[in-house]
Amino acid sequence: MCSILITGANRGIGLGLVKNLLVHQQPKIQHIFATCRDKGKAKELMELTTNSKLHVFEADLIDHGSFFNLASQVSNVVKDKGLNVLINNAGISSKFTRIGLVKSEDLLNHFKVNTIGPIMLTQAFVPLLKTASKTNSNSVGKSSAVILNISSIMSSITLNNQGGFYPYRTSKVALNAATKSLSIDLKNDGIIAVNLHPGWVKTSMGGANAPLSIEESVAGICKLLTEINQSYNGGLYDYQGKQLPW
Ligand SMILES: NC(=O)c1ccc[n+]([C@@H]2O[C@H](COP(=O)([O-])OP(=O)(O)OC[C@H]3O[C@@H](n4cnc5c(N)ncnc54)[C@H](OP(=O)(O)O)[C@@H]3O)[C@@H](O)[C@H]2O)c1
Repeated sequence: MCSILITGANRGIGLGLVKNLLVHQQPKIQHIFATCRDKGKAKELMELTTNSKLHVFEADLIDHGSFFNLASQVSNVVKDKGLNVLINNAGISSKFTRIGLVKSEDLLNHFKVNTIGPIMLTQAFVPLLKTASKTNSNSVGKSSAVILNISSIMSSITLNNQGGFYPYRTSKVALNAATKSLSIDLKNDGIIAVNLHPGWVKTSMGGANAPLSIEESVAGICKLLTEINQSYNGGLYDYQGKQLPW
């Protein structure tokens, strides 16, 4: 039995992950923790709470000081079993993408949500991830404790042939760097940290021209979750399990 926490779960890929996990992983998953900024505005997510495995908590990724309280709420549910999977999914992408339009506040905001948020949230959840790793309970796949940071192919410096997207690209590159450090720092605790590109997906962020449906992307991510092992630690992968260059 295992437990998973997903941030930004009220819409887009986060909501898709909750739906997929509720339907397809039922027997193995004991608790799914889904966070959103405002339960009152998360109608579709709240409707899923008829399934008692789903617990919804409010969390704003820029309110870094609230993360230990969130971890304590999760701890009250999982008790001595800890948390097996932390999916740092919530993120933003600015429309001000070209150099002439970049604003310093926009850059800062992207770092707060896309980089600092996931790092500080992970800090708050490390004790629960360590507990899950120690109890060696079966997670969704081969590992007992996994941090999945939702990054982007746009964080790849090698694959950047279009330029622009300064706030988004730089904040996701920094997230990748943090994931790499987590993969080293937490290795001896049996915790695996992976960066994941979900594909170009039809969400509010990905837009209507994106080739992938949410269902296709999350099916790939959930399959990958069952396959992640030590060989993935610290790397950048896409939703089909293909490794991407930095
Ligand atoms: N869609 C793509 O093609 C694509 C491609 C590569 C990577 N990604 C990554 O995939 C992840 C999910 O993206 P998506 O496409 O599902 O985007 P989305 O539909 O725009 O959803 C973004 C989610 O992040 C939440 N969020 C934004 N700011 C937040 C904050 N300050 N605190 C807490 N939650 C916040 C949103 O909540 P609210 O509703 O409250 O705003 C929403 O739940 C992101 O990390 C994104 O960078 C997406």
